[in-house]
Amino acid sequence: MRPSLVLAFASQVVAAGIQLPLVLPSASSPAVSSVGKPIVTSDALQADIDAKNLLERANHLYELAKLSNPDYSHPTRVIGSKGHVATIDYIYSTIASLGDYYTITNQTFNAVVGNVFEFRLELGGGGNVPKSASAMSLTPPTKNKGPVFGPLVLVDNDGCDQTDYASNVVGSIAFIRRGTCTFGQKSALAGKAGAVAAVIYNNGQGSLSGTLGEPSPDHVATFGLSREDSEPYIEELRAGKTVAAKAYIDSIVENIKTVNIVAQTNGGDAENCVMLGAHSDSVAEGPGINDDGSGSLTLLEVATQLTKYSVNNCVRFGWWAGEEEGLLGSDYYVAMLSTEENGKIRLFMDYDMLASPNYANQVYDATNEANPTGSQELRDLYIDFYQSNDQNYTLIPFDGRSDYDAFIKHGIPGGGIAAGAEGVKTKEEAEMFGGKAGEWFDPCYHQLCDTVDNLNLAAWELNSKLVAHSVATFARSFDGFPERCTVESESHGVASYWHGPKLVM
Ligand SMILES: *[C@@H]1O[C@H](CO)[C@@H](O)[C@H](O)[C@H]1NC(C)=O
Ligand SMILES: *[C@@H]1O[C@H](CO)[C@@H](O)[C@H](O)[C@H]1NC(C)=O
Ligand SMILES: [Zn+2]
Repeated sequence: MRPSLVLAFASQVVAAGIQLPLVLPSASSPAVSSVGKPIVTSDALQADIDAKNLLERANHLYELAKLSNPDYSHPTRVIGSKGHVATIDYIYSTIASLGDYYTITNQTFNAVVGNVFEFRLELGGGGNVPKSASAMSLTPPTKNKGPVFGPLVLVDNDGCDQTDYASNVVGSIAFIRRGTCTFGQKSALAGKAGAVAAVIYNNGQGSLSGTLGEPSPDHVATFGLSREDSEPYIEELRAGKTVAAKAYIDSIVENIKTVNIVAQTNGGDAENCVMLGAHSDSVAEGPGINDDGSGSLTLLEVATQLTKYSVNNCVRFGWWAGEEEGLLGSDYYVAMLSTEENGKIRLFMDYDMLASPNYANQVYDATNEANPTGSQELRDLYIDFYQSNDQNYTLIPFDGRSDYDAFIKHGIPGGGIAAGAEGVKTKEEAEMFGGKAGEWFDPCYHQLCDTVDNLNLAAWELNSKLVAHSVATFARSFDGFPERCTVESESHGVASYWHGPKLVM
C-alpha cells in the first residue's frame, strides 16, 4: 500500500460471446470436470484456508527478508534486494511445484532503485544540524561517500535556470528555494554549475522531503530543509555574511530489472478470466510481512488449494513488483496488454494488507458511476461476505493507492479489501472491530516492525476466506456479472498521485 496523501506530503471490446455451461453444477452434486476434479465451490475453497498454513508461509517469508541483512543491515524485501529476489523465487517455485495446473509467466521490467544509508547536514560555523534536514530520494552520494565542505550560496530566483547560478556556486553548497521546477532539475542545474551539494528549502510550511526522480549524471547530493530552519541562514547570506556548511550523504542509485509473476489456470474459459493481485515487494525500511506479505501469501495459498478443483473460467494470479516505488509492476503489466488481452480480464481484485494488527474490514467503495461497470458488483460481493459472516465492515475511498489503479484506468472493473494501513482507528471502529481507538490500523506500517508478530491471524484467515470466496465465485460463473465494454477510459495516460515515487516539485 502506498502512503496516504497526508503522510506523503511529504473500441469497444466485448468479451467474446461468453460461454456459460447450460447447467451450472451445484454444490450438492459436484460435477466432475474433464480432468476428473470437482468443480470449485466457495464453501470448499474457504474450508481449505487454514491460518496455520498462512503462518508457516509468513515465517518462511521473514527468513527470506533476512537475506537482505548484509546489504541493508535489516530484513527487507524492497525491489533489487536479495530478500525480494528470494520472494520472487519462492512464489515462482511454489506455483511451479503444482505441476501443469498453471502456466507461469515472468514479466521483467526496468526500475530505478535508490537507498540512502546515512546523511548529515551541518550549517554555520558552530556545526548546527538542522532538525528538518532530509536526504532526497534517489539522491547520489556526496563525493567518495564522504563529507564535502563549502560555503552555502544562495541561488537566484527558484534556481530553475542556469543563469540563476552565479559563478560563486562553483565548489559551494547551493541553497535553492522550492518551486517552479522539479527537485531533479534544481539538483542537475546545481551540479552543472559546479556545486558539491544542494539544499532545497521549503517555500511553505513544514519539512521538505521528495525525490530527484529519473537519475541524471548532473545530479549532486541533495537535501530538503524546512523554511523555518532555512530562514536564519537566508538572512545572514542576504546580509553579505559567509555561512560555512558541511554535507554528507551515503547512498546508492541503481537501474535494476525486477519481475512480475503471473500464473493462469490451464483449465477454464481463457477468454473470461478473473484476475487477482498482490505486491511481492516491501519498502526498504522493513520486511513487509503484512504489507504485502499477507496478500502475496494468501494468493499463494489460494492458488495452491485451488488445484484440488476444476474451474469454468480462467483464474489469473498476479504478484506485482515495485508497488512501493509507485505501482510500477501493475502499471507495466496493464500497459503491455493488447486490446484483445485486456478484454479477457473480466475484473481485477486487489489484495494489499490483509492482516493488520489493529484491523478493520475495509471494502473499497468502488462504484460503477466512477469506475468501470462491474466494480460495484464486486464491492457488493465483499459486503455480502462480511455480512453473511456476521462481521462489520467500513467503506474506504477507492482512490488509487494500490495496484488496482492501472486496471480501472484501462477499463477493467476492479475493487478489493484491506485491513488498514496508517489510518487512525476511530472510537466507532473500535466498537465495530475491537482493537485500539486512536492508533493506526497497522502501527508497523512501512517500518522495521512489520514482522510475523505484526499479523492478526484471525483477520488474516477471515480475509483469506474472502479471497477464496471471490475466486471460487467467479471461477464458477460470471452469471449476472456485467460484460466488459470499452477499454480506453478518459483518464487513460493521466498520471495520478500515487504513480511514480514521491513529491517531485
Ligand atoms: C522466472 O523466474 C523464476 C524466479 O526468479 C526463475 O526461477 C525462472 O527460471 C524464470 N523463468 C524464466 C523462463 O525466465
Ligand atoms: C458490530 O458493531 C457493533 C457496533 O456498531 C457492535 O455492537 C457489534 O458487536 C459488532 N459486531 C461484531 C461481530 O464485532
Ligand atoms: Zn506499502
